[in-house]
Amino acid sequence: MTPRNRPPRGLFITLEGTEGCGKSTQAKLLGEHLRKQGYDTVETREPGGTPLAEKIRAVLLDRADEPVAPETEAFLVLAARRQHVAQVIAPALARGSLVLCDRFTDSTLAYQGYARGLDIATLERLNRLATQSLAPDLTLVFDLPVSTGLARRRSTAELNRLDRESLRFHQKVRAGFLDLAKRHPTRIKVVSARASKETVALAVARAVTPMLDKIRRSAARNRPAADRPSPQTSQARHAVR
Ligand SMILES: Nc1ncnc2c1ncn2[C@@H]1O[C@H](COP(=O)(O)OP(=O)(O)O)[C@@H](O)[C@H]1O
Ligand SMILES: [Mg+2]
Repeated sequence: MTPRNRPPRGLFITLEGTEGCGKSTQAKLLGEHLRKQGYDTVETREPGGTPLAEKIRAVLLDRADEPVAPETEAFLVLAARRQHVAQVIAPALARGSLVLCDRFTDSTLAYQGYARGLDIATLERLNRLATQSLAPDLTLVFDLPVSTGLARRRSTAELNRLDRESLRFHQKVRAGFLDLAKRHPTRIKVVSARASKETVALAVARAVTPMLDKIRRSAARNRPAADRPSPQTSQARHAVR
């Protein structure tokens, strides 16, 4: 399809990184920033985001003593993702919303692939099955030494099953995200998460702005000529409340 007759579609942004790197904090700040500009914004998370997927999340993060095979972990995450994409993400994008998702497909590759050792190509195929090939427009990887992130988490949250993995495990996850960023330099932007929340939020806003400009331009192109406002007042109508 040409850009002219492509149906309006919002923007899909995922936030990724190791435990305590600031994904949830930055998702909230970015959501506020976008809503202030008038964008209809949906904030969601993985695993989870629908009642069924949240139940799967609880099973996954539960600290029960039974060992969980890497494949079991992968299938649970992927089952939750399929449901989340079908029920929440795809419909929101079709409505023209901006979707901010705290963890998505790259987490599966980093955790179950790079850290647990499952085959990356297989996980990529399973990701495509779970997402029906819906991919993020932009992925922000928040990079932070794992010990800093775990210390930040320890000060607030009760640690879940994955938080309690070894330092070595979390280091593999971090290296995995950085490798994914190298493999997908257009989609994935690495943001240093060492600075204050406000400074990190500014870096996030800088990374997102070009994407907003792009959807504004495409919204203007899709509109009949007579209906087109001057470029200065042009807004991404499909993404504006
Ligand atoms: N840039 C930052 N500097 C210091 N503390 C931070 C920063 N970003 C987040 N935090 C704090 O670190 C903890 C973990 O942040 P959170 O956003 O929950 O991380 P994640 O969702 O990636 O696990 C929270 O207590 C949060 O307030
Ligand atoms: Mg979080």
